[in-house]
Amino acid sequence: MIVGRQYARRLSEIQPFRVMKLMARANELQALGHPVVHMEVGEPDFPTPSAIMEGARVALDEGRTKYTPAEGIGQLREKLATYYQTQYGLDVPTSRIFITSGGSGALLLATALTLNAGEGLLMTDPGYPCSRHFLKSFGADGHLVPVSAGDGYQLSPELVERYWQETTRGVLLASPANPTGAVMNPLTLAQIIELVEVKKGHVIVDEIYHGLYYADQRLPSALSMSDQVIVVNSFSKYFGMTGWRLGWMVVPENAISLVEKLAQNLFICPSSVAQYAALNAFSVEARMEMEGNREEFRERRDFMLGELRELGFGVPIVPEGAFYIYAKIPPGLEESEKFCARLLEHHNVAITPGTDFGFNKADEHVRFSYAQNLQVLSSGIENLKSGLMR
Ligand SMILES: Cc1ncc(COP(=O)(O)O)c(C=O)c1O
Repeated sequence: MIVGRQYARRLSEIQPFRVMKLMARANELQALGHPVVHMEVGEPDFPTPSAIMEGARVALDEGRTKYTPAEGIGQLREKLATYYQTQYGLDVPTSRIFITSGGSGALLLATALTLNAGEGLLMTDPGYPCSRHFLKSFGADGHLVPVSAGDGYQLSPELVERYWQETTRGVLLASPANPTGAVMNPLTLAQIIELVEVKKGHVIVDEIYHGLYYADQRLPSALSMSDQVIVVNSFSKYFGMTGWRLGWMVVPENAISLVEKLAQNLFICPSSVAQYAALNAFSVEARMEMEGNREEFRERRDFMLGELRELGFGVPIVPEGAFYIYAKIPPGLEESEKFCARLLEHHNVAITPGTDFGFNKADEHVRFSYAQNLQVLSSGIENLKSGLMR
């Protein structure tokens, strides 16, 4: 081993994504024969819709394995423009749509686009941890705003005013959010956008769970409120394409050439086969499959919510989207990391400690993912029950 070689200082401020480690341990235990119930994973259990799989087979047969334009193939950008038209009634010019390497690629591009080193974006704590770590990778900071059930686990214009610092350059919102499943009221979203635009700041809205919203009405995209927002989305969750690494972002007109040169340099292009496969994601057949999955997620949410509340977990607001429930651990039990470790090692159930999502009362919370079928979820609840009786 070479001693004394220094790696970048910024890495000391980037924490590991604990859930990945937890998942690896859960898989290890499973390989040893333990019937572990996975409630930690942030990915749908459903397979990628068959029309998309078929699209990939055709793409391979046609040899679609070369670099594509950095902004993605025209056909897919056009499909997305049509999607905004049919789904949201919005005219989004194709030129503003960039195909990216997952929502993660889009978040990296948005970070590189908006922030200088030493600057930051307001974001919720708890929140998706990688977002603040993307900022750290560019020498910027997540300006964390502690939010609770009383705030609906989302920012508000008041919180934006209160936490805005001299070095704050905007806000990064996610609705529905990870880990809380919380959805921002569209009126609040519009007010925040207006407020931040007055401050000449950036508004980045992570809409990657938009397709997994369980109320009956449609959730408006932030794009309907301003053409200056940056919207991030993904084929991972609603479209069931986590491992394909495909997402997209919509940027303001005056950022197109900047994002283009960033995308060229950082990624060259998103996966070619994945892009051609995703052309079929908008077919009637695929949409029916995805809508069926959404319906099932809603049933699972209702089941899990009832069970967890009965077991004494604190879930003060109904999570309206995504596939997570963020819950306060019942009184008298360990802090979240110890609690999760014990549940995994001794009770065959994997859940994620709150400490993965920030610092705000993180020790008191855990995240349940309900991306498993009802039968698996009920056996997970049985395992959990045994873990609560110490
Ligand atoms: C809120 C949020 N944003 C972005 C991502 C990144 O997802 P992907 O890169 O698979 O699109 C995730 C993944 O879990 C997430 O929860």
